[in-house]
Amino acid sequence: MSLGIARPAAPPVMPVRSTTPEVRTTIGEDPARIRATIARAPLFAALPITAIEDLTGRVQVRKVPVGSAVVAQDEPGDAMFVIMSGRIKVVMFGESGREVTLSLLRSGDSFGEMSLFDQGPRSAHCLAIEPTTLLALSREDLMRHMQAHPRTAVNLLGEMARRLRRADETIAQLALCDVNERLIHRLVALGREEGASGPDGLVVRRRPTQQELANMIGSCRETISRAFNQLARDGLIIPRGRSLVVTPALIERAEKKKAA
Ligand code: CMP
Repeated sequence: MSLGIARPAAPPVMPVRSTTPEVRTTIGEDPARIRATIARAPLFAALPITAIEDLTGRVQVRKVPVGSAVVAQDEPGDAMFVIMSGRIKVVMFGESGREVTLSLLRSGDSFGEMSLFDQGPRSAHCLAIEPTTLLALSREDLMRHMQAHPRTAVNLLGEMARRLRRADETIAQLALCDVNERLIHRLVALGREEGASGPDGLVVRRRPTQQELANMIGSCRETISRAFNQLARDGLIIPRGRSLVVTPALIERAEKKKAA
């Protein structure tokens, strides 16, 4: 079992470089750090200590440079991953190279489990957008672990249900909301997921670029630029250096739209 980092089966214009040679397996990583990562991952929440120990003995640590494809769409999958540190973008590319960002994952999040269960190919690319350290768990080890600790399987079902729920919301928004509303929902979600409370609202430390926002909500940069600047002029968001403040007024507006 290689637990390798995939070589992306790149569509012609996909801006992803193959990273296999740069990926490093870390031998001798502090088991306490591995254990702590597993214990705080939502996927392994509330598992008994015996299950955490079992997983700690099964995972391998992988260091991945920024820009690497950890998982490449359409390749076979033989392992899943938990993020120890860094960030991963789950993404699909259209024929023209246009990008759709499905999810942004951070420390504690997991990915790469779908193809282990349905035996299909990888459903999307998973790219490191920061230098990232991962715990890799092979299909074989995951199956063995779940036989002894069925609670992990229940957690996995919960995680997949949450993801399906989010995907349903996205589908509904694409069908029912205009770009402006989708942008508001996305910014509020970013504030809630990543923001820290500040005097003016939720402060998102790293403001996404307008192209990144466009990729997240299925729009183009020019349209997002207009909508974003209007929200800033209305005082609903406050771009501040590299960060962004999501104000309570924007959150209220998103809530009102939801209730309407
Ligand atoms: P897998 O299909 O094995 O490889 C790609 C991974 O991307 C997939 O498993 C999931 O873990 C992850 N993924 C696919 N779609 C989504 C989504 N909509 N939201 C979050 N993660 C996803």
